[in-house]
Amino acid sequence: MAGRSAHVVVIGNEKGGCGKTTVAMHLAVGLLRMGFRVGCIDLDHRQQSLGRYFANRRAWVERSGVDLPMPRMVVLGPSAADMKSLAIAEERDSLDAALTDLNGNCDFVVVDCPGSDVPLARHAHTYADTLITPINDSLLDLDVLGQLDPVTWELKRAGVYAHLVWELRQERRRTHKAGIDWVVTRSRLSALSDRNKQKMAEILPEMRKVLGFRLSEGFGERVIYRYLFLWGLTVLDVDQAGIEMARTKSHAAARDEVVALLANLWLPRVADRLDRLAG
Ligand SMILES: Nc1ncnc2c1ncn2[C@@H]1O[C@H](COP(=O)(O)OP(=O)(O)OP(=O)(O)O)[C@@H](O)[C@H]1O
Ligand SMILES: [Mg+2]
Repeated sequence: MAGRSAHVVVIGNEKGGCGKTTVAMHLAVGLLRMGFRVGCIDLDHRQQSLGRYFANRRAWVERSGVDLPMPRMVVLGPSAADMKSLAIAEERDSLDAALTDLNGNCDFVVVDCPGSDVPLARHAHTYADTLITPINDSLLDLDVLGQLDPVTWELKRAGVYAHLVWELRQERRRTHKAGIDWVVTRSRLSALSDRNKQKMAEILPEMRKVLGFRLSEGFGERVIYRYLFLWGLTVLDVDQAGIEMARTKSHAAARDEVVALLANLWLPRVADRLDRLAG
């Protein structure tokens, strides 16, 4: 990617169902609404959730006539090669080609990874200027970041995903001569305070120091994050999207959460444009 200029944000966690696609969609739409040129790559060629989300958005634009900002969307298909090593190489090449192409036309590229450890997702991580890892507020989900002692609550060893990020950071240093700004964000936070939530709040800042990530408050558990899929909309679109929807406090809070995440990512030129997302 000679002369590259796009900032690549990878959304990754090999734990499934932790909110990666939801974060990817809201991040992409937030950046679009700030006037940036955005490319999206969906690496989950089986479910294609991000691709399906934006396909719904395009269909809604055509059907309703509303004007919604769109990214350049790439869904990478699986290689047809029989031999595993050849298939891996082909898929890497197609990701390289997609990134080279988007780099010429975009300010940001958002890459949504599948919820499993596959070679293509590993390769994508080596391009990450910023890596976002959403994590469900559960000690079970935390295990992929770090394994904890149940008595002292001390971190015994890095979890499988944190170990992988450590390896891929080394690889990126070798191949791209650059680091990864790794941001972990809690997902689907409940409004109520409970023992689990408190423990997560205590443990993550300690883990952060050892594993080398930053923390950002994430999205609360809200219906609005899951309701708008069929129209391809996000909470940042609802006011201008041609659907009847009463404004609620929860929508306003969700909007604030998306803006806060965008601010906490420290992405280039974003701080100057956050006011464009004011609801
Ligand atoms: N903040 C939230 N509030 C309510 N529901 C949410 C929230 N975030 C995600 N969800 C819902 O949780 C489910 C999993 O979310 P999502 O598909 O974004 O996760 P994922 O990490 O991309 O999953 P996969 O690993 O399968 O790709 C979906 O049904 C989604 O609508
Ligand atoms: Mg997903």
